[in-house]
Parts: sequence; structure tokens; C-alpha cells
Amino acid sequence: MLEPVSPLDREALAELATAALAAVAGAVSLDELARVRRESAGEQSPLARANRAIKELPPLDRAQAGKNLGAVKQQVFGAIAARKEELEAAAAASRLAGEWVDVTLPTGRAPVGARQPLEVLQERIADVFTAMGWSIAEGPELEAEWFNFDALNFGPDHPARQMQDTFFVDPPGSNLVLRTHTSPVQARVLLSQGVPCYVAVPGKTFRTDELDATHTPVFHQVEGLAVDRGLTMAHLRGSLDHLARAMFGEGATTRLRPSFFPFTEPSAEMDLLCFVCQSKDPTCRTCGGSGWIEWGGCGMVDPNVLIACGVDPTRYQGFAFGMGIERTLMFRNGVADMHDMVEGDVRFSLNYGVGI
Ligand code: PHE
Repeated sequence: MLEPVSPLDREALAELATAALAAVAGAVSLDELARVRRESAGEQSPLARANRAIKELPPLDRAQAGKNLGAVKQQVFGAIAARKEELEAAAAASRLAGEWVDVTLPTGRAPVGARQPLEVLQERIADVFTAMGWSIAEGPELEAEWFNFDALNFGPDHPARQMQDTFFVDPPGSNLVLRTHTSPVQARVLLSQGVPCYVAVPGKTFRTDELDATHTPVFHQVEGLAVDRGLTMAHLRGSLDHLARAMFGEGATTRLRPSFFPFTEPSAEMDLLCFVCQSKDPTCRTCGGSGWIEWGGCGMVDPNVLIACGVDPTRYQGFAFGMGIERTLMFRNGVADMHDMVEGDVRFSLNYGVGI
């Protein structure tokens, strides 16, 4: 091994310093700097060896040697510390550059969907009835003519069969139709569950209407049927008012107008007090100035229907009603055009929120 540099040899020390400073300046990474530090100032470095040589010197020379070496060490360690800061700053800067995100880039995220508002509304309506202790029933959309008409007291040549604008299903004589209303489920429920009976039936219904702003060939109704002992039209009225308030808020009121359905007697059309003008504005656009809005049909279950379903009409009475879900959504949320409800554009549905 070479002799250590003498701590009294200032020229040699200056050379050591120059070499060390050059190595420090040449280090381009923190790892490299650590290596340079080991080589230029570590235990085995010429600097450390010169340092250790001090104690070999005669006592009188040691102070000078210490000063010489101290100056060099200060230079070298100072340079290492400064370079370390530079390299750390550069490393941080390059890390930041690597983590840079262009917030203006288009995202690949799929847009949020939305539930069809008619579906959500049907669930809300069902909730109103289950809260009253009623149960919810369903029936087939492809229905036997017998349930859609015969069980409901439509005679074979009853003009209402045609009035209902029925989709008859091939082959002729199949006796199947796309149900024109949810009322056939009245008969299905009475036959399968008997009495007493309190059910609500939301579901799809079909009529041969052209799609326009106020009609659609596929639409939805909710049917209500209660059969028990001692039921009267007052119970019907109370149930309708309750549903009206649940749908349209406190202050909503219904009105019954005499009408006709083969399966109810007496029968009525039910109207809603116009919730925009409260029947006070003859120029109101929502109710057309009449003060009332048609909402659906209702009545006391015709004894013939009870008999067809095996229920004794001398002991049991019932009431029933059916209203359009589309109409309800139109009034409730101010939807002017039926097209919006059936086209399935998420921009329409999103207005109703994404809640379940
Ligand atoms: N089913 C009838 C319709 O679609 C409505 C209704 C239901 C009327 C129940 C009376 C009782 O027009």
C-alpha cells in the first residue's frame, strides 16, 4: 500500500482536494455520490489516511497538520453536501414529472346510468300500498281473453272488447291477447288467493294506439282491488285520496264522476284537483281550465265478477281502481311528451336521479 499523503504536504493535499471535488462534481446520481463519498472521504480514502497520519507526527507539527487537513475536509464535505442537495432536488423534480397528470385528457369512465322513471314510480306506488298492509301481485302480459274480458263481465259481443283497442294474438282462435288493462289480475288474485283480499298490481298494458305526445301502445297501470265484508265507496274514496296525497302531496284531492265499466257497478272516473291552479284558473294549461285532471277509473266490484271468481256477493263487497302510471308521471313531474318516457334516453331518466 502506498504511503499516506503527508498532512503537512499542502500541495499533495490540494491535489487530493481537486481530485475529490472533480469526482463529486461528476457524480450524476445519489448512488454515484455515495460511492464517491466512500472513495474520497470514507475510512480507506487518502483523506482519512492522511488524517490518521497526524498522530504519527511530532507534537509540534500536529496543529498545522490538523489545520491543513481540516480545510481540505471542509471543502470536500461541503461539496458533497451541496451536490447531494442538487441531486435530491433533481430526483424530486423527475419524480414529479413522472407523476404529472393531464387533467384535460378525456376519461375512459363509463357514464352513470339511470333507472327508468316509470319503473321507479311503480315501486313508489307499490310502497304506498304495502305501507297500508296491502300486498303486491303480478299477472301475465300475454293474457287469456277469458281473464281480460269474460271474467270481468264483458259479454262475448260486448262493444267494450273493441273499444279497448285490443292486440289479439295469432293464430286466430288462440284466445290470447296482450292484456289491455291490469284488471284481469283482479280475477287471477281472487281465484288463487280468495277473500279477504287487498292487492295492488302495477304492470305493463297494451293497446293499439299510435305513439304520440299523449298515447303509447305499451303503457303501465296500477290496479287496486279490495274485497272484504262491508266495504263501501267511502273506503274506495279514502284509499284514492291517500294515494293522491302520497303521489302529489298534501292538499291533493280526488273527485268521482259517474261512468261505466262492465266489471264495476257503480263505476266512476276519478279526477284529481288540478295541483297547479287548484281549480281556480280558467286559463290553466295543466287542466285546460276545467280545474280537474282525469287520473283513472274505479268502482265497486260488479257481483258478476265476484261470482265468476267464486266469491259470494251477498257476503263480500269490493272496490277496484286502475290508473295510468304514465299519466301519473306526467302530472307529477311535468312531462309534456310521452315520447320522452319510451325512448329510453338516459338524459331524460337522469333528471330523476339514480336512486334505487
Ligand atoms: N281497467 C280500467 C281501464 O283500464 C280501469 C278500472 C280499473 C276501472 C278498476 C274500474 C276498476 O280503463
